[in-house]
Amino acid sequence: MSPSSVPYANGDHANDTNGNNPHRGTILVTGGAGFIGSHTVLELLNKGFEVVVVDNCINAYKADADLPECLKRVQELTGKIVTFYLVDLRDLEKTREIFSKHSFLCVIHFAGLKAVNESVQFPLMYYQHNLIGSMNILQCMVEFKINDMIFSSSATVYGSPHFLPLTESHPVGDCTNAYGKSKYFIEQFLQDHCAANPHVNAVVLRYFNPIGAHESGRLGEDPAGIPNNLMPYVAQVASGKLSQLSVFGNDYETRDGTGVRDYIHVVDLALGHTAALEKMLEGSLSGLKTYNLGTGKGHSVLEMVAAMKKASGVDIPYVIKARRGGDVGEVYADCTLAATDLNWHATRDLETMCRDLWNWQSQNKTGFQPS
Ligand code: UFG
Repeated sequence: MSPSSVPYANGDHANDTNGNNPHRGTILVTGGAGFIGSHTVLELLNKGFEVVVVDNCINAYKADADLPECLKRVQELTGKIVTFYLVDLRDLEKTREIFSKHSFLCVIHFAGLKAVNESVQFPLMYYQHNLIGSMNILQCMVEFKINDMIFSSSATVYGSPHFLPLTESHPVGDCTNAYGKSKYFIEQFLQDHCAANPHVNAVVLRYFNPIGAHESGRLGEDPAGIPNNLMPYVAQVASGKLSQLSVFGNDYETRDGTGVRDYIHVVDLALGHTAALEKMLEGSLSGLKTYNLGTGKGHSVLEMVAAMKKASGVDIPYVIKARRGGDVGEVYADCTLAATDLNWHATRDLETMCRDLWNWQSQNKTGFQPS
């Protein structure tokens, strides 16, 4: 393994500095230096798991030969150690080497490219990262007899809703971009893999729109360049980094004509993963299970602008523009199944989401990079 892929610290021997939680086993988190991944790593550590992260850091700030900045902050916040490998999952040999060094209870698989527009421009790159990376992880899990996986999927697999709220039984696969299709294809791999191997369990979590940040203001979303998603963009307008928001369309059949989405606090989303993990480890989820993770509530673009204005105390100028290609008017989840099976539901409201996002944005104007 090259020097950059040498683990930063060996989590298998990490101590619980709080002394609260006994060692509960080691979880491999792929893509653990990303927005949702890093928040999930923090919650796993808080629950007494040891965590090994593998990430290629294409989208995570990292000073040379060191941990990604977000994971340094996770260590500060938890007082615990994260084991880190700078490895691209397309490299089967290096991925296999990680499996040979640890004994994992479960793999939580976040790693992948995720920008919708970019995936339309570079579909091959998306399929290479997302599909080959996932196949390599599954291959290693087979070789090292790891039977449990939690997979990071997306509401994007539903395509344009036939009915609302979206339940897990809504048809899937009618996606208009390579990113969405890659998520759908991986769900299909997992379905076939579980059907052929009755001892294998996979939980597919379909996320709605994750926003917000850790309440400490130390962890949050750090998009590269100009944000594509609504709330990081709005936050940068509020902080003065961007001058105004473009609202893509006010002629949808929604309350105020602007697009409606089911926004969920990233910490609630992270806790959805730990809830699924606990159920999986106690043996109450077997085979392939699929859950929506959202709040079940829809908010329009203009409602989000108003909520962020209230949280920040800053005016957010906007202009109405034409609809964005590929967008749908309204999307929100039915999360009953996650409540029933995982004993999980989102508890953080829109005000908390915006408060925490503003707290992060105002304290970290340059994201994880030094200013
Ligand atoms: N929007 C604007 N202006 C912007 C950005 C977004 O008006 O500058 C609007 C969009 O038109 C949409 C809403 O804000 O109505 C939300 O857009 P986002 O780009 O934040 O989120 P999407 O719902 O389009 O997509 C997101 C992720 C996908 C994921 C999907 C799951 O980007 O990766 O949620 O539903 F698949």
